[in-house]
Amino acid sequence: MTYPRILIDQEAVLTNAAALKKMGEQQRIQITPVVKALAGYDQLIRAIAELGFTRIGDSSLRHIRNYADLAVEKWLLRSPMICEMPQLIELTDGALISEERLLREIEAEAGRQNTSYKVMLMAELGDLREGCDQQELVQLAILAESLPHVQLEGIGANLSCYGNILPGVKNMAAMADMAAAVETAIGRQLAVVSGGNSSSLKMLAAGQLPAAITDLRCGESLLLGMIPCYDVPADWLRQGAFTVETEIIEIKTKPSLPWGESGSCDSFGGTTSFEDKGLRKRALAALGKQEIYINGLTPCDHGVELLGGSSNYLVCDITDGPDYQVGDTIAFYCDYAAMATGMCSAYIEKRFL
Ligand SMILES: Cc1ncc(COP(=O)(O)O)c(C=O)c1O
Repeated sequence: MTYPRILIDQEAVLTNAAALKKMGEQQRIQITPVVKALAGYDQLIRAIAELGFTRIGDSSLRHIRNYADLAVEKWLLRSPMICEMPQLIELTDGALISEERLLREIEAEAGRQNTSYKVMLMAELGDLREGCDQQELVQLAILAESLPHVQLEGIGANLSCYGNILPGVKNMAAMADMAAAVETAIGRQLAVVSGGNSSSLKMLAAGQLPAAITDLRCGESLLLGMIPCYDVPADWLRQGAFTVETEIIEIKTKPSLPWGESGSCDSFGGTTSFEDKGLRKRALAALGKQEIYINGLTPCDHGVELLGGSSNYLVCDITDGPDYQVGDTIAFYCDYAAMATGMCSAYIEKRFL
């Protein structure tokens, strides 16, 4: 057995995939599963695709290479770099685009490969990550329509990722307006208006998305059953599918306050505050910031507190927890950040249950 390792409850993820698909169908919205946090481990990605989705979204061509043969549309959700155009056209069916230069590079490379390539143009709705205002969106749509090797599939928007902006009646109406403006400019209906991600599930479940929205791209809800930005579980989805386990390598009773002269920061440039609780029983576990986002871990066992960690150690207070021994394993639930970083870490084994 090798530790640390992430355990993935595939049944929970597949149950979520089916529930999302069903909820989408009830509201006439297509769901695009976003599998970037699966880091290209294709066994589960293939099982998700088999449930009958039209598109799969991922953030990395390295991941997509592992399932490029799948008979489902593969979309790169992060705008492509110019240096990856040949692989982009070779491995994927479409990408989200917000720059004229990238559209023209896609046209050139798709032409070289004698193929046609789908794009969704991204609209800025206030979250301040990728996306164009309405005027630029319309200009790019007209340009895309004129490019022989580019197929304008639709428009998209992303919320709740950078600026913590929630989807609501106002920005969804703005999205519908942008879709209408693009459709008027190009004289045809768009096949896809992709209105957001998992943070739109509350509006989806309540039937509040405007009719113009046809698609949502869902990652965190699919894998963890959570609605991001609200940071709440969806009661119709399953949580806790990703846990990380590692070995305990030291158990000692120590004071809860460090002693000696304090410097300005820890080994990762951060600061930690300490509470004086007297002597506490502490366990060190073999996992750290070099491998995973440790702030996203929650101990699975009752009474265990994760105090913090450094590059390669987790420090836990186990005074009120189980009677662990050195060599026992200790497990933690992963939130999105821990899952996404841990799954991409070469130092953590992955075990699909
Ligand atoms: C463009 C885009 N769409 C959709 C998603 C999925 O977001 P979420 O995991 O919140 O559903 C992401 C983030 O992973 C993204 O960057």
